[in-house]
Amino acid sequence: MATRTQSTSRTGNQSRTTGRSAAGSKSTSASRTASKTSNSSRSMSSRGKNGDMNSRFHQLFMDQLKDIYWAEKHLLKALGKMQKAATSEELVDAIAHHQDQTREHVNRLERVFESLGQTPKAKKCPAMEGLIAEGQDVMDDTEEHSAVRDAGLIICSQKIEHYEIATYGSLRTLAEKMGHEDAARLLDQTLSEEKETDVVLTQLAESSINEEAAAE
Ligand SMILES: [Fe+2]
Ligand SMILES: [Fe+2]
Repeated sequence: MATRTQSTSRTGNQSRTTGRSAAGSKSTSASRTASKTSNSSRSMSSRGKNGDMNSRFHQLFMDQLKDIYWAEKHLLKALGKMQKAATSEELVDAIAHHQDQTREHVNRLERVFESLGQTPKAKKCPAMEGLIAEGQDVMDDTEEHSAVRDAGLIICSQKIEHYEIATYGSLRTLAEKMGHEDAARLLDQTLSEEKETDVVLTQLAESSINEEAAAE
């Protein structure tokens, strides 16, 4: 299951690639639409250092910010439930730490919105909703106080971390591209914390919980 390299560097690289390819495909589609609407000046200005706050590219960035804002807020509630369902003391502590971190991620996203002169808004994130539902499935399908349940909770937590890593990596890249330096710095800070949590979860699974689960 959880492997160290998959959880960290590779995902980080993919995140950067995702950000770039999203930019590339959007710019292709934007220029296609721009030629239809004869709005090529807007398309060009979106490539400027500070971006164009009204460009489609910027709109994409804002939509993705709203998505992760919703995701972090909902995760905050779900982590409380996951923490209560966990048995291993180390896992309980790790989930509690993740919850504190997530609270800070919500606050930090609010600062990102503010740095862009925007009011924080959430937009439903179906991916996080599904990942949280998977966590619920694990709790429903495993025995209380079992290491198997703990192992399942770690898998679900790492799926969540990887979603967050992909999102923050892409958003950081987009913010850099648009010249939103404060936003890029804040997003990068959260990205680093998501990666750290992922590593902690991998270590926890590999050092004890998977072995205990195998012995049950
Ligand atoms: Fe987070
Ligand atoms: Fe996280």
